[in-house]
Amino acid sequence: MKTKPSFGSRFGTIAAVGGSVVGLGNIWRFPYLTGENGGAAFILIYLSVSFLIAVPTMIAEFSIGRHAMRNPMRSFKKLAPNTGWIYLGFAGVLTGLMIITFYSVLGGWAVEFLRFSYLDAFKGKSAPEVAAFFTAFTQNGWTVALYSGIFVLATFAIVATGVEKGIERFNKVLMPLLVIILLALVFYSTTLSGFKDGIRFLLKPDFSKVGFSTVLAAAGQAFFSMSLGMGAMITYGNYIRKKDNLKKVAGTVAVVDFSIALLAGFVVFPAVFSFGIEPQSGPKLVFITLPNLFQQMPGGYWLSIAFFILLILAAVTSSISLFEVIARYIQEEFRQTRMRASIITGGMVLAASTVCALSMVDHSSIRIFGENIFDLFDYLTTTFMMPLGALFTVLFVAWFWKGKGFEEEVTNRGHINHRFFVMLRFVLRYLVPLVLGALFIDLLLF
Ligand code: PHE
Repeated sequence: MKTKPSFGSRFGTIAAVGGSVVGLGNIWRFPYLTGENGGAAFILIYLSVSFLIAVPTMIAEFSIGRHAMRNPMRSFKKLAPNTGWIYLGFAGVLTGLMIITFYSVLGGWAVEFLRFSYLDAFKGKSAPEVAAFFTAFTQNGWTVALYSGIFVLATFAIVATGVEKGIERFNKVLMPLLVIILLALVFYSTTLSGFKDGIRFLLKPDFSKVGFSTVLAAAGQAFFSMSLGMGAMITYGNYIRKKDNLKKVAGTVAVVDFSIALLAGFVVFPAVFSFGIEPQSGPKLVFITLPNLFQQMPGGYWLSIAFFILLILAAVTSSISLFEVIARYIQEEFRQTRMRASIITGGMVLAASTVCALSMVDHSSIRIFGENIFDLFDYLTTTFMMPLGALFTVLFVAWFWKGKGFEEEVTNRGHINHRFFVMLRFVLRYLVPLVLGALFIDLLLF
């Protein structure tokens, strides 16, 4: 058997997977979704879904990747030859392309906010003025496209030159740093007038507004935040050492992912209630909230610069894993060199993110079903494509994967207690399909 490169230690594995998992999903998407879905009840549902559904799905994806040692499409081809499962790999590539399109625009926003922080552009602005500033800047479609382009180029440069391994070393330092800044922000939040209201919002559940759609939103968020349902974790499974315990890797990653999202919530909501910002502000929530916080904080100028640098880096390490899925597909299926595959991918992503940035301008003629591309792709990928991708992956692993491959991966060829495998298989066979199936039926019928 060919020996392929793998991560050097369990901590290295977690840092690398963490690079993909921790990103704008935690700091941008989790708070805005929590705001839209009423706070604490959503968080509780999100927590349950993360551990009951997303962690098992992650173990399933790791197993496929570590067993087949191929890109997602070829993995399905190898494990289930001459079947339609290969299209699941292809669907993942498409999903990745759609996510990276709006993700790059978001990354561009973060780059622009770094520049604003450096220029102290929010100095003396009230909360409504910051919000107006944000709206005005998204209306400069070409400027946003330019900054998104910088973000795409950074991702491209890293993937094309293959220095991701070096980045993983960085991750071990960067992620803890990001957590430290978030903690400092939470600490400062305790002095804000809206602290109590913020905490109440995050901790006191009101289940009256919870329905199937809330659960589906939570599931979509869990898959997005843990990079599931589109092949990224199958790819990362290729690099996990045979002796590592997949359950522990997935569990640790989930704890880290959830903790960072929750921290982001604890930063955002006290500020939201202090500055009179609407919790249901949608995707712009974090961007219109944080500048107010930095404005008031002692040392806020430097902290905001550090924060946006780290946010961009966390976003780039996630974007790399999206880019990688697409580039590897092009490289292997169309027999291109890594460089050419990266250039083709980079070109496509650049074009798509430009169109996406332009479609966000008011009265832009670029609309699909009346929606701009950012909102549409954010919605389609997290509501349909990732949950569906996850559902089919789980069905494949639990019902259609012939032979003992899955069992071997979960038990490390019998070295790990068999009981967990039996439990996991049960969850993957019945619980996950049932829950996801019910959510889809509800979505389609009601
Ligand atoms: N998990 C990443 C984040 O939270 C986004 C992502 C989704 C990355 C899917 C790869 C694949 O920002």
